[in-house]
Amino acid sequence: MYVASEKRYDKMTYRRVGNSGLKLPAVSLGLWHNFGDVDNIENQRAIMRAAFDNGITHFDLANNYGPPAGSAEINFGRIFKEDFMPYRDEIIISSKAGYYMWPGPYGEWGSKKSIIASCDQSLKRMGLDYVDIFYHHRPDPNTPIEETAHALDLLVRQGKALYIGVSNYSPEQTAAISKLFKELRTPFIIHQPRYNMFDRAIENGLTDVLEQEQLGAIPYSPLAQGLLTDRYLNGIPEDSRAHRSDSPFLSEDRVETTIGIVRQLNEVAKKRNQSLAEMALAWILQQQVVASVLIGASRVSQLESNLKALDNLDFTPEEMDEINRILESSNA
Ligand SMILES: NC(=O)c1ccc[n+]([C@@H]2O[C@H](COP(=O)([O-])OP(=O)(O)OC[C@H]3O[C@@H](n4cnc5c(N)ncnc54)[C@H](OP(=O)(O)O)[C@@H]3O)[C@@H](O)[C@H]2O)c1
Repeated sequence: MYVASEKRYDKMTYRRVGNSGLKLPAVSLGLWHNFGDVDNIENQRAIMRAAFDNGITHFDLANNYGPPAGSAEINFGRIFKEDFMPYRDEIIISSKAGYYMWPGPYGEWGSKKSIIASCDQSLKRMGLDYVDIFYHHRPDPNTPIEETAHALDLLVRQGKALYIGVSNYSPEQTAAISKLFKELRTPFIIHQPRYNMFDRAIENGLTDVLEQEQLGAIPYSPLAQGLLTDRYLNGIPEDSRAHRSDSPFLSEDRVETTIGIVRQLNEVAKKRNQSLAEMALAWILQQQVVASVLIGASRVSQLESNLKALDNLDFTPEEMDEINRILESSNA
C-alpha cells in the first residue's frame, strides 16, 4: 500500500491562481504522454507517486490523452483509486474537452452537447465525482461563445467541476469569455497556453489580458517537449519523444534545426549551476501571471531533477540579456 511521504510539503512552493482562492504547486504534472495503454502502468504509478511525494498536488489530463484516446484517464483513475483515494482532498485534478474524441458532430469542439457529455465521460473514466478544474481545450470558431460559457458554467452548478479554465484561447477570445463568466459568476480562474523559450507568443497580448482579468496561467510544454533539456544534446535517443512519429510539434527535423541554440542555452544554464531543464522552468516561473508550470515526464528521474529548478528562480539582467540574444538569433 502506498503511503505518501511525510516530507511532501517541505520543499514545494504554492502559488495563487489569479485572484482566486486556489493555489497550485509551482510545478504540476501533465499526463498527455507516457500514461496511455502503450505505456508501462508501473512506470506511470512510480511517476505519480514521486510527483505527490515531492509536493506536486496537481495532475492535468484531457479526454483525448493516451494513446488510445481516453486511456490516460482510465490509467490515472486506476492508479488514483489504488493509491491516492485517501489523499483526494490534497489533490487538484483537471480535465478538458474540445479536441476530437468520438465520431459524429458532438465528439469535439465547444457545443453544450459536446462539453457536458465529454465531462461525464471523463468523470466515469477516472472514477471521480468531480474534477477540480475543467477546461475548454481549444476555441470553437463555429459555436457561439455564449453557449460554450453556459455549458462550462453548468458543470460548476452541477458540482462536476469546481473551477473553469480555457486553453489555447487568443487574448481577444479570453477577454470575451471572461466577460461572460463574470456575468454568470462562474469561477473562471485559469488559462493553459503553450509557453516556453521557443514559443513566446503569449507575451504578445495574452499575459496582459490575464493580468487585467486577474486570471492565472499554467503554461504547457515548458520544456518544448524535451528540446529544452539535455535529452537531445548528443543526438536523438530511440526512446525519446522526437523519435516517435506521433509527435506533431517535436520532430527529428526540429531537433536538428534548433540544437545549436539549445547548446548555447545549455552553456548559460551551466554558468548558473543549473541543468537546461531547470533553467527553462525557472525562466517561465519568473512571470508573475504564471501560477504553475505544467511539465511532462517519461521517468521518475526527469521529474525529480526538474524540481531542482525551484532552488534558483532568479535571473540577473545580464543572464536575461544573454538568453534573449540567443533566442533572437534563432529561427525556432
Ligand atoms: N492544453 C493543451 O493544448 C496542451 C498541449 C500539450 C500539453 N499539455 C499539457 O502539458 C503537459 C506537459 O506537456 P509536455 O509533456 O509537452 O511538457 P514538457 O515538459 O515540455 O516535455 C516533457 C518531455 O520532456 C522530456 N523531459 C522532461 N524532463 C526532462 C529531463 N529532465 N531530461 C531530459 N528530458 C526531459 C521528456 O521527453 P521523453 O518522453 O523524450 O523522455 C518528457 O516527456 C501535458 O502532459 C499536458 O498535460 C496541454
